[in-house]
Amino acid sequence: CGIVGYLGPQSPKDIIVSGLKKLEYRGYDSAGVAILDHGKTKRVRAQGKLKALEDKLATEKFDGHIGIGHTRWATHGKPSERNAHPHQVRGISLVHNGIIENYLDIREELKAQGADITSDTDSELVAHLIANEVEVTKDLFKAVQNVLEKIRGAFSILVMWEQEPDRLVAFKDGPPLVVGMGKDEVFVASDVQALIQYTKHFVYLEDREVASIKGADVKFFSANGFPIQKKIVELNWNPEMVEKQGYAHFMLKEIYEQPRAVAAAIEPHVNPETFSVALKNVGFGGQSVQKLEELDAKADWAKTQEVFKSIERVFIIACGTSNYAGNVGKYLIEQLAKVPVECDIASEFRYRNPVIPAKSLVITISQSGETADTLAAIRMAKEMGATTLSICNVKNSTIDREAHGHLYMNSGPEIGVASTKAFTSTMAVLNTLAIAIARTRGVMSEAEEKELVKSLLAVPSQMEGVLSYDKYFEEAASSLKLFRGFLYMGRGTSFPIAMEGALKLKELAYMHAEGYAAGEMKHGPLALIDERMAIVMVAPTDHLYEKTISNLEEARARGGKVISIGTGDNEKLREISEHYLAIPKAHWTVNAILAVIPLQLMSYHLASNLGYDVDQPRNLAKSVTVE
Ligand code: G6P
Repeated sequence: CGIVGYLGPQSPKDIIVSGLKKLEYRGYDSAGVAILDHGKTKRVRAQGKLKALEDKLATEKFDGHIGIGHTRWATHGKPSERNAHPHQVRGISLVHNGIIENYLDIREELKAQGADITSDTDSELVAHLIANEVEVTKDLFKAVQNVLEKIRGAFSILVMWEQEPDRLVAFKDGPPLVVGMGKDEVFVASDVQALIQYTKHFVYLEDREVASIKGADVKFFSANGFPIQKKIVELNWNPEMVEKQGYAHFMLKEIYEQPRAVAAAIEPHVNPETFSVALKNVGFGGQSVQKLEELDAKADWAKTQEVFKSIERVFIIACGTSNYAGNVGKYLIEQLAKVPVECDIASEFRYRNPVIPAKSLVITISQSGETADTLAAIRMAKEMGATTLSICNVKNSTIDREAHGHLYMNSGPEIGVASTKAFTSTMAVLNTLAIAIARTRGVMSEAEEKELVKSLLAVPSQMEGVLSYDKYFEEAASSLKLFRGFLYMGRGTSFPIAMEGALKLKELAYMHAEGYAAGEMKHGPLALIDERMAIVMVAPTDHLYEKTISNLEEARARGGKVISIGTGDNEKLREISEHYLAIPKAHWTVNAILAVIPLQLMSYHLASNLGYDVDQPRNLAKSVTVE
């Protein structure tokens, strides 16, 4: 869910709605605002996308200077107006993100007291608790503090009260919250993207911290009431970075931004003159993320190399698309650096009591840096004594702040819910990481390093080349409507690409697709094949190509229709495929980065031709801060 709050001289309605627009990626099944107008709360809520709320607000006038807003991704209680936030109880208005675990007990207790509960949400219950408390404390901050002792879970809240019309209280324990510091005005939001057009100065709340905002004065406390000093971080993003810039969708813009994003991802780590890799500003020495840029490059790299020398095992943990990037990383690190690598889905890893030997490097990958399961995994790994390294896109995000070492995707803001540029940038970063570990451990020659770096440096312009074939991908997409199912297949690094391709089709076009290791076909999936089943084969020319082709023939012999991705002008593939989509000749280590582009674009075109909302697919959210 997305939270926005404002206190200051401008119109809260405009600021909150513009902030919510930027946060719609976090949830979009209902939305609402509450604004204090001459001491009385005026609340407007609507089911559906933000547009529905905007339509309702068009005729509403507010005269006030403080307000809160919310865009929802349902957890407890179905999407509806009555379940939409802000929740309002006797002068208290509250927006909430996350889950209250003991909500059933609280509900019973409140019901027994005769509370008038008007929604099915866990969030409303917190508003009741605060409304009860504030009658006693007569102080919103104290009331929130007292209630924190009664609720359990992972959640963030933002609250206002009619009796203190110049005050907002924000609390975080789990989902992110930032406070934007303006001149004579203060903002609160789930993500800096919502506020970047108003301020560049932010304070990131850590878990169990409270911000008490009174007028333009902001004070920070721990949950038990001790004042704390917080650092104001200056961000150099500009507002245009979160606009569509003429593209029909954010997703399309982000697909086209990939060459630049990949270049930005590798730029800090790769020397284009010597064709060598040295990871920059990783910060294993224990610096805070804000201080990474001040590191002594040589000393920091030496420290990173020390870590790489000492490790005996690597774990890569992530969710969704980031997990597939991690799977590509497994092939790269194992084959290039000869260290055993395990790659797991964060929600499985955290509950399977994993054995993490000391001398393990646990790498977490998260575009948002906020995914709840990935965050839990990194915390667990730290507790078990592992060294942790995060690969995030959002600097200063929770996972980034908590990791020992830090690498960045450098993709710029990614708004489309289905991840694209963060995925390819991550694979590029993983290339540099694998080379760096391999060289440090003495298992890769300088000549091989040069060759790999050269191939990596060539990727951005090769990606441009692939993008220029978009019309063929669109053409292929138009034939996909006819199939009842899709099997995406590949071997080696093409296997995770097959899974990512299938995920993109599911997410965007709502069609059933499976990603399979091509060699597994004969152990089940072959039974599915007939002429209404499409086989999407990822078969770039690499050491596994011949084997992949045999698998493709097996599928074709059973009547499957083939769409294939291969290297250059591959006559064989062209001949046996309904659609053959080419990527340029490249080293096996970077084929994955190129091969995913046709798959992204096919899903994009299919979904947008079917009239689906590609930027915000149904039922999904970009940043999943609940388990
Ligand atoms: C959500 C998004 C996916 C994303 C996944 C992991 O499910 O819809 O696109 O891959 O979360 O997100 P993260 O921010 O941790 O990479």
